[in-house]
Amino acid sequence: MNIDVLKSTAKELVAPGKGILAADESTGSIKKRFDAVSVESTPENHRIYRQLIFKTEGIEEYISGVIMFDETIRQLTDDGVPFPKSLQDRGIIPGIKVDTGAKDMANFPGEKITEGLDGLRERLTEYKEMGARFTKWRAVIAIGDVIPIKTCIESNAEALARFAALSQEADLVPIVEPEVLMDGNHDIKKSEEVTYKTLKSVFAKLSEHRVDFSGMLLKPNWIHPGKESGQEAVDDEIAETTLRVFKDVIPVEVQGIVFLSGGDSPEESTGHLNALNKMGDAPWQISFSFGRALQKPVLEKWGGKSENVENAQKEFYKRAKLNSLARSGKYEKEMEKED
Ligand code: G3H
Repeated sequence: MNIDVLKSTAKELVAPGKGILAADESTGSIKKRFDAVSVESTPENHRIYRQLIFKTEGIEEYISGVIMFDETIRQLTDDGVPFPKSLQDRGIIPGIKVDTGAKDMANFPGEKITEGLDGLRERLTEYKEMGARFTKWRAVIAIGDVIPIKTCIESNAEALARFAALSQEADLVPIVEPEVLMDGNHDIKKSEEVTYKTLKSVFAKLSEHRVDFSGMLLKPNWIHPGKESGQEAVDDEIAETTLRVFKDVIPVEVQGIVFLSGGDSPEESTGHLNALNKMGDAPWQISFSFGRALQKPVLEKWGGKSENVENAQKEFYKRAKLNSLARSGKYEKEMEKED
């Protein structure tokens, strides 16, 4: 493990004004996204779409890295250049999702455990040869009347820590993603309680597995009322609660925090990020690693048609720029109307 390499990659990923694009939808997730805009989900259509986003002119100003899925990291641009190389050539760091998905956890109805540790060391070597410099693993924690149970949180935390240790061994910066879902009718207090417990457990396990915090990034959820709670997600309340809990449980050595969007709209996600950065007293870089919040309007503009590529790219550029502004609390809702 070369900690200098890890630290410098992690710092580059959260460089001021920049954030990460999560374009790592698995085959099942990308099909859902394509179905929503009536585009057939084939590997070639995935390639065409991903090329559209990766090749958007000027995004390297705002996008530091891209997380890819296994299918994507092996694909080429129209000119025959592998995606990781074409990104790296523009100064965008290639990354890869290495978990193999969240599966039902035996004996724990409604709970998930993320798989993918078997053979991970060998897969990491292969991804590194393809140009990847960072990795991601997502654990899913659902909130319900009687869940999550401690065993589920701890099992996922253990897997995250083993993934992070293996990644660092290969000089790949791990993005540790324990996602507490916002699905459900719970209030913000419950989200706070579960997120606190989850992060506490994750950092205890990372520590036990001797993961160097300065060579990793955390990808958390916002502390947020459940989507079906009927409660409004107010930017300032989300920002204040999230930052208070984070200061309590996240070591200051962690190189950066890159939020997921988790189902909030692009405007909501940019708004939360802006509010948190506006508070200005976080000890870490506070950035983004959005999937849907960067891509939803882009997919809608594209709709699978080559004549829409330019407009779709404009949309992507705009979202990347607005999130970049939110990195320093300079985003305003009115900017959504500007072209
Ligand atoms: O693992 C989750 C994705 O990388 C981020 O996706 O921003 O749509 O929640 P999201």
